[in-house]
Amino acid sequence: MKKRIYMAPSILSADLLKLKEEVRQVAENGADFIHIDVMDGHFVPNLSFGYNMVASIKRCVKTPIDAHLMINNPDQYIENYAQAGAHILTVHQEACPHLHRTVQCIHQHGMKAGVALNPATAVHVLEDIISELDLILIMTVNPGFGGQKFIRRGLQKIAAAQRMIETSGKQILLQVDGGVNRETAAEIITHGADTLVAGSAIFGAGKIAQAMRDIRAAAEDVL
Ligand code: DX5
Ligand code: ZN
Repeated sequence: MKKRIYMAPSILSADLLKLKEEVRQVAENGADFIHIDVMDGHFVPNLSFGYNMVASIKRCVKTPIDAHLMINNPDQYIENYAQAGAHILTVHQEACPHLHRTVQCIHQHGMKAGVALNPATAVHVLEDIISELDLILIMTVNPGFGGQKFIRRGLQKIAAAQRMIETSGKQILLQVDGGVNRETAAEIITHGADTLVAGSAIFGAGKIAQAMRDIRAAAEDVL
């Protein structure tokens, strides 16, 4: 059976003055999740959105929202993201000294729990928590900015994470974020990922529908 590919456009690269229109366009063109990149200017050297953005997008489309928290102390905001309507809440392993507690708290608030790994963090740090996770996010750029170059070493990490997921026997999404485009999508999928985050390749391309189609086609071509 062919595996299903999920697409999660990141609104970080959207035109904020046309956000409603652009979010509707990705939703109508097969987005499986809307990926919201939350940055605090501390964990990463940039600022972006907060939970209000999740609530606004939620009012705009029915597509489930996947919030990627690139912030220190995410525990403090779990309740806010639940109230705002996030479907998946992803935290960074590097920002969570008590990751097990954080993941439990996300679940207690009725959301799916994801854990993201920076490029320099090895996949094996998730060995003792994997059975609790709904999503693993492999960062293939250093988080903070859209439009960066894909770090190829990430391909081996995707494969390692895929093996770990298979061994766990659990249904866990394997998401990749950073430098995903029509050129890199195929290799990302062949190494075992199933969920593609793309920002600049979708919103920066001018033609959202075409970009969505091209990336999905490149990904599905190797199934
Ligand atoms: C990086 C963010 C990404 C980013 C991806 O800090 O987590 O979601 O928007 O942007 P592209 O697809 O342009 O690499
Ligand atoms: Zn992201």
